[in-house]
Amino acid sequence: MKPLEGGIVSGQVILISGEPGIGKSTLLLQISSNISAEKRVLYITGEESAYQVYLRGQRIDAVSENLYIFPETELETIIQTIKNFKPDFIIVDSVQTIYSADLESAPGSVSQVREVSSRLTELAKSTGIPVIIVGQVTKEGSIAGPKVLEHVVDTVAQFEGERGHAYRVLKVIKNRFGASGEMAVFSMGEKGLKEVEDPSSFFLSERPEGKPGSITFPYTEGAKPVLVEVQALVSKTVYAVPQRKTQGFDINRLSILIAIIEKEVGIFLKDKDIFVNIVGGITVKEPAVDLPVALAIISSIIDRPVPTNLTAFGEIGLTGEVRSVYYTEHRIKEAKKFGFDKIVVPYSTDIEDKALIKVKNIQEAVGYLR
Ligand SMILES: Nc1ncnc2c1ncn2[C@@H]1O[C@H](COP(=O)(O)OP(=O)(O)OP(=O)(O)O)[C@@H](O)[C@H]1O
Ligand SMILES: [Mg+2]
Repeated sequence: MKPLEGGIVSGQVILISGEPGIGKSTLLLQISSNISAEKRVLYITGEESAYQVYLRGQRIDAVSENLYIFPETELETIIQTIKNFKPDFIIVDSVQTIYSADLESAPGSVSQVREVSSRLTELAKSTGIPVIIVGQVTKEGSIAGPKVLEHVVDTVAQFEGERGHAYRVLKVIKNRFGASGEMAVFSMGEKGLKEVEDPSSFFLSERPEGKPGSITFPYTEGAKPVLVEVQALVSKTVYAVPQRKTQGFDINRLSILIAIIEKEVGIFLKDKDIFVNIVGGITVKEPAVDLPVALAIISSIIDRPVPTNLTAFGEIGLTGEVRSVYYTEHRIKEAKKFGFDKIVVPYSTDIEDKALIKVKNIQEAVGYLR
């Protein structure tokens, strides 16, 4: 389970957050099982019974002699047990289910989450035992969510995906001990999570060819880009207020892009429903996705497919200018590796390569769709 396993240091506290049912317990049981080949792992489960965890362990072949399952929710008992048992590695699944008897509030409340996480962190620092904490998040962004936790812990990893889909992405979004922005892609199956070795070809394999509204985007928040597909569907609305929906992309950002397209490209969109989807259950928050999203929308409106050898990245400013983004070189390299020989990039890109199409603004970029 790169990007975490190789680099866990003594006393490190890692938070893995994700929505309910996404596969956090599965991931942690697999990580525990791998680590238990050499070390004693104590897996504290506040959510499920030991038997439930054992059954999952059997299904995914993660039962191991050195992996100890401990169903408990009281923090004081947990800390005492850790001190007596002296494991080499601790998993706490999940922080929302653990409570300190010193506080009156309910498990999962902000004060409990803060107390539990800071006391576990203290314990990790004083004993040197690394701890992985599971944190639940809700679609709405939770009340006592990992935001409280993010400051306390050393490393924050997000586990994303859509429950109906097999793909899962683990992203490191904060790391005091190493690179952040790293990500790993997994597929979820009967036997648990399996790392996808070559995520770009995995995501590109289902890309529709010759269909308007689809474009490939070299996505990265760290040094390892993954090619993902961005889709847009634009259709005439039957409502008074047109529908705007996104999956994996910020809906407010979509409104801004729509306004820019109307003003700078001169396409009227007020009577159109617009849907944007980042395929594979990935959530993209970086601004480099602006250009591919805008091009996918325009491709759908003009009903012309984006050439399959064309990819694009760049932030779009309010006057339609295409602005530079991070990791330009890495993105270009990944795109070229997969045969893209028309890479639409911000004009300021100071790399010379015949595959590059440098554009100053969105109007120029649109010219390459035809
Ligand atoms: N037999 C199976 N075959 C394939 N996938 C399965 C199977 N059983 C469970 N899963 C997958 O595992 C997911 C649940 O995994 P897991 O319990 O690890 O998630 P979690 O994030 O810990 O959930 P919770 O929020 O309830 O703690 C299911 O949503 C499903 O995708
Ligand atoms: Mg779970």
